[in-house]
Amino acid sequence: MKIAILTISDRSARGEREDASGPILVAMVKQQGWRIAKTAIIADDQQGIEDTLIRWVDWDSVDVILTTGGTGFSPRDQAPEATRKVVDRLAPGIVQAMRNESLKKTPHAMLSRAEAGIRKSTLIINLPGSPRAARENFEVVLHTLPHAVKLLHGDPDAEKGHHPPKRREEA
Ligand code: MTE
Repeated sequence: MKIAILTISDRSARGEREDASGPILVAMVKQQGWRIAKTAIIADDQQGIEDTLIRWVDWDSVDVILTTGGTGFSPRDQAPEATRKVVDRLAPGIVQAMRNESLKKTPHAMLSRAEAGIRKSTLIINLPGSPRAARENFEVVLHTLPHAVKLLHGDPDAEKGHHPPKRREEA
């Protein structure tokens, strides 16, 4: 799987704060044996976010784009708006799962407006910006990604993954 990671932060883009969340996500992706195809750090600017997402989907054909940051309530938080603008279809189950699990950890999880959706055959997932929040949210969806990507590619094998593995006595 080809994964791209986009850090969205004014301060990191200006070089005022080191990007901690991007490298954490890179490490988690590599641990799964997946390939990091692209990484970038950009400002909280809706047009800039849209342009990067479109380029990574339309030109680089990555399988999954993870964004980190810009999902909250501050006026500069525009990752969800940019994501909604570029996707063909929303994937609400993904954000629902992340929010459910995150709410077990902190009530502040309700402050993330993260979206997920599909542009062409690329899945785009917004994650919050703090390193801990990015990791906790990505952990929720991580193991579902291979099946999601197979489905997006129309892989006939993906059908098998719809069913949980048989219990030993049924096999
Ligand atoms: N989700 C988890 N799992 N853990 C967290 O610590 N932090 C929340 C939330 N989601 C958090 C979380 C906080 S404090 C905010 S403000 C929102 O994500 C939005 O974060 P962002 O603006 O950095 O994207």
